[in-house]
Amino acid sequence: MNDVLIRGRVLTFVAEPNGIDDTSSCHYVEDGAVLVREGKIAAVGSYGEVSKAAGAGHSVADHRPNLVLPGFIDTHLHFPQTQAIASYGAQLLEWLNTYIFVEEQKFARTAHAAEVADRFMDELLSNGTTTAVAYCSVHSQSVDAYFAAAEARGMCVIGGKVMMDRNAPEQLRDTPQRSYDETKRLIAKWHGRGRARYAISPRFAITSSPEQLEMSRALVAEHPDCYVQTHLSENRDEIAFATSLYPRAKDYTDIYARYGLLNDRTFLGHCIHMSDREVGALAETGAVAVFCPTSNLFLGSGLFDAARFDKLGARWSVATDVGAGTSFSMLETMDEAYKVLHLQGQRLTPLNSFYRMTRGNALALGLERSIGSLEAGSDADIVILDARAKSAMEYRMHTATSLAEELFILQTMGDDRCIDEVYVSGKPMKTKVRRKSALAS
Ligand code: GUN
Ligand code: ZN
Repeated sequence: MNDVLIRGRVLTFVAEPNGIDDTSSCHYVEDGAVLVREGKIAAVGSYGEVSKAAGAGHSVADHRPNLVLPGFIDTHLHFPQTQAIASYGAQLLEWLNTYIFVEEQKFARTAHAAEVADRFMDELLSNGTTTAVAYCSVHSQSVDAYFAAAEARGMCVIGGKVMMDRNAPEQLRDTPQRSYDETKRLIAKWHGRGRARYAISPRFAITSSPEQLEMSRALVAEHPDCYVQTHLSENRDEIAFATSLYPRAKDYTDIYARYGLLNDRTFLGHCIHMSDREVGALAETGAVAVFCPTSNLFLGSGLFDAARFDKLGARWSVATDVGAGTSFSMLETMDEAYKVLHLQGQRLTPLNSFYRMTRGNALALGLERSIGSLEAGSDADIVILDARAKSAMEYRMHTATSLAEELFILQTMGDDRCIDEVYVSGKPMKTKVRRKSALAS
């Protein structure tokens, strides 16, 4: 047995925090440890207790005084946009046409897709993200590259081939039949292979014809255990265009409802400009709205109204949305989430932010039994957070007096430098990524 004891200040959530100091929502152990055995968490608790449960000859990874949390989960981003972050000066539709639909054409080349997929996974890991839900490009080979790069690292990821058959350059268009056939083949190849899961991915109503949404409906009906991902109500011009293409739909949300695409495994990026009826339709079906704050500010799309989703009983998760999102870091993402909600008179507490990045996103995915928490039986996907990684943070920490304050400093001032280590199925990965980039330079 190669047991590893990960020692540090252990923090994991058991419920959604209700208020700034709701410590009943989490388990926090000051001198804590997580025992990793064969890629899974075998025990968690105080160092004294857990070290007794460890087998003879176990090793100790001593991360004191850093925090030990479940790895972060990013529920919406685009792997082919890794090299298109920071594309200047446009709102959604112009940004897609000017930059993104040019960039994504490069993924017809298998070697390019493989190179970017490797960098993408390393970037996620450097930022403490151990699970991602990503769009690939229209090309099947980009999906193979994405899942292969995750598999090589042992990561639990979800993704899928974008389906798009109109309002895009010819090189990026498939057809309803081709998108159906290729998606089917990719599901057979990847869904449930190791830790991989498939997301059926019609890009959005603007780039899918009614015939393609009909094919999406068939795929969802034939594969009810796959996820579904698309975009909804990000930008006012987008809404006007989408609803003009589907004049019989009551509103944008109703387009997806009519094609049977809303269920409790559906992830809808953005959901900014929505009526109460539309939010109610998400609540009824269990579909998840995905809040992408850095993207929404970068593209000037608008402010996600989390309080309304809570009030109407609709689910929401958090995500980076790279490459409209400007950072791979979930810490930086929650910094912007705090500000977006603050601007609307809403509060996102530090405990709630860290809950959202971990257990909250795992629950949204229905994967809370395997990721998002540090509990016996969970997969050992773990992040080590150092709130003193930058000199300004170290200095600020002199005046911090509580765990909530430390978490808020981490999300407000932190970035990839605060990720001291990240474990995937119990294996330390950040050290590996660092070594690789040192060799390359
Ligand atoms: N809507 C349709 N495609 C995209 C995309 O790639 N990024 C964002 N932010 N919105 C979209
Ligand atoms: Zn997106």
